[in-house]
Amino acid sequence: MSELKNDLLLRALKGETLSRPPVWMMRQAGRYLPDYIKLRQKYDFFTRVQTPELACEITLQPVDQVGVDAAIIFSDILVIPQAMGMEVLMEEGKGPLLPNVVKTAADIDALQTDAVEERLAYVMNALALTKKELNGRVPLIGFAGAPWTLLCYMIEGKGSKTFDKAKQFCFTQPELAYRLLQKITDVTIVYLKAQAKAGANMVQVFDSWSGMLSPADFKIYAQPYLVQIADAVSPDVPVTLFPKGSWYALGDLSKTSAAGLGLDWSVTPQLARTMTNNSITLQGNFDPSKLLAPIPQIKKEVNEMIDAFGTTRYIANLGHGILPNVPVDHARAFVDAVKEYGS
Ligand code: CP3
Repeated sequence: MSELKNDLLLRALKGETLSRPPVWMMRQAGRYLPDYIKLRQKYDFFTRVQTPELACEITLQPVDQVGVDAAIIFSDILVIPQAMGMEVLMEEGKGPLLPNVVKTAADIDALQTDAVEERLAYVMNALALTKKELNGRVPLIGFAGAPWTLLCYMIEGKGSKTFDKAKQFCFTQPELAYRLLQKITDVTIVYLKAQAKAGANMVQVFDSWSGMLSPADFKIYAQPYLVQIADAVSPDVPVTLFPKGSWYALGDLSKTSAAGLGLDWSVTPQLARTMTNNSITLQGNFDPSKLLAPIPQIKKEVNEMIDAFGTTRYIANLGHGILPNVPVDHARAFVDAVKEYGS
C-alpha cells in the first residue's frame, strides 16, 4: 500500500516488531555537515528556509551522506511567530532574536491567525519538492514548535537559561497566557494538517523548553495544547510529541492520540516503558554529546540502548539535536550501529 521503499519509521509508529529500529537524528539537516556550512556562507538563514530548492537540498544531505531512515524538512519552529506577524531575526552564531516581543493583550490580539497556509506556502512547497526528490527512498518528517516553547520565544524574544520572563508572564497574567497559547495552537493545527497534505509522513511537535515547567505547571501551560494538536492532527498523519525534560508527563501523554513520544537522555528506557505502559512508540534518547566519544564506545552504547528499548515500538534517535561540532564519521557510526543491530 505504501509507495515507500523504506517504511521502517511508519511501521515502528504502528507498533510492528522489526528486526532493527529505524534511525534518524533530531536537527540532522544543517548544523554539522560540511555541505550545509558551504550553503550557509552563500545564503542567509531565512533565504535557506524560504527557498524550496535550498530547503530540499539541505533536507536530503543527511539521507544521502549519513544514511538515516527518514528526512526531516529543513525549516525552523520560529516560522510560526513570523507568519503571525512578528519579526524574527537569526543572528549568525547567536541564535534567534524577536525584537518586538509580546507584552500586552493588544499585542496578542494583533497576532494574525488567518491565511496560515498561504503565508507558509514555502514550507508546503519545500515538502512537496522534497517528497518528489526522495522518490520514496525514506519517509519525510514535518514539524512545528509546541505552543509553550513558541510562547517562550514570543515573550522572551530570544533564548534563555531560565525563560523567567515567559514564566513571569504566565504566572502573573494567566488569562493572557491561555489566549496566546490557544492562538498558537489554532495556527499550528492548520499548519501541521497542511504539512500532511503536502506529503509529510509524520509530524513532530518540539516542546524544547517544556522541562522548564514544574509537573503541575506543565499540566496548565503545555499539556492541554499538545493534546489539542495531537487530537486534531492525528487523523491526518501520525504525531510525535517531544516534551524535552518532561519525563514526568510521559504517562499522561501516552494516553493521548499521539503515535510517538520523543525522549531526552534524562530518562532510562525502562522507566519510560513502565510509565507509558508499553503502549506507545518511543523515540530517542542517546545523549548528543556521546557522539563526541570514540566510535567503538558509540557503537557499544547504541547496542545497549536498543537492547533496553527493544525493536517493537521504538525509533532510534538522539535525546536532542545533534551538536554542530560532531564529526560526520561519528554521526555515521551512530546510524550504522543502529542499522547493524542484530546482524
Ligand atoms: O533537522 C533539522 O535541523 C531541520 C531543521 C530545524 C532547524 N531548527 C534549523 C535551524 C529544526 C527541526 C529546528 C527546530 C528548532 N528551532 C527548535 C526545536 C528543536 C530543538 O533543538 O530543541 C528550536 C528551539 C529552534 C529555534 C532555533 N533556531 C534556535 C535556538 C536556533 C539557534 C541555535 C541552533 O539551534 O542552531 C535556531 C537556528 C537554526 N535553526 C539553525 C538551523 C540549522 C542554525 C542557524 C544556521 O545554520 O545558520
